[in-house]
Amino acid sequence: MSIAPNPGIAPPARSMKLAMPGAGGKVPHYLSAHYWWAYVHPRSVRVFERQWLINLILWGNYRRLRDAALAELGDSLPGRTLQVACVYGDLTSRLSRRVAAGGGTLDVVDILPIQLENLRQKLPKDAPVRLLARDSAELGVPSASYDRAMIFFLLHEQPADVRRRTLGEVFRVVKPGGTILVVDYARPGRWHPLRYLWLPILAVLEPFAPDLWRHDLSVWLPPHCDGRAMRSKSFFGGLYQRVAVTR
Ligand SMILES: C[S@@+](CC[C@H](N)C(=O)[O-])C[C@H]1O[C@@H](n2cnc3c(N)ncnc32)[C@H](O)[C@@H]1O
Repeated sequence: MSIAPNPGIAPPARSMKLAMPGAGGKVPHYLSAHYWWAYVHPRSVRVFERQWLINLILWGNYRRLRDAALAELGDSLPGRTLQVACVYGDLTSRLSRRVAAGGGTLDVVDILPIQLENLRQKLPKDAPVRLLARDSAELGVPSASYDRAMIFFLLHEQPADVRRRTLGEVFRVVKPGGTILVVDYARPGRWHPLRYLWLPILAVLEPFAPDLWRHDLSVWLPPHCDGRAMRSKSFFGGLYQRVAVTR
């Protein structure tokens, strides 16, 4: 991997492609106000880059959701794959292995250089991966340039207008016939104990997450998206959803 020049941060020492043009170094207000502890603070990576901790936050479902996301995309991924936003744990390493198996390439975008740098350290040097500092709501890449895209637990962190723009951008950059895969929170069944226990806590820690309990994902999809092209699956009594949309 090679590194593109970056005006925002010092270039990383190793050789993965790390391009920094789009984000302009600005941290969106929702991230600095509500997620400084998880992603923005210099110590956040040291605290949260522990798969057992992320698994705990997901009530023991990290592996299941990770594997479900990967299974939906396939074992071998030729062409160009986009991952929108870094995630703690080994999801991207596993995704990049499938991309390598298919002879494809993977672009991972994130708005925070600290998160891209953390991901760079988790990936092997020769992974076919480019790391791009971009805002998911303004990707700045040509339309129809990816064969598929994955958004793993990003949308619940974004205010509704940003979430809508993120989905609009992902639909724009994925080719017609390509897959857009979302894994995130959803509304658990009435009987689910976490529906009453977890929502008030989540609403404090992650103020935009309850949106995904209240509304179907289709609410934020671009107007031209055909609902018939959506395949949804629930996990853990409905607390989580995997939605695959054919562009
Ligand atoms: C994918 S989400 C949540 C991941 C999940 N909690 C985990 O780590 O397993 C976290 C990432 O989204 C990134 N992010 C948030 N808003 C973004 C935006 N507008 N554009 C690009 N990346 C964004 C954050 O910088 C962070 O790295």
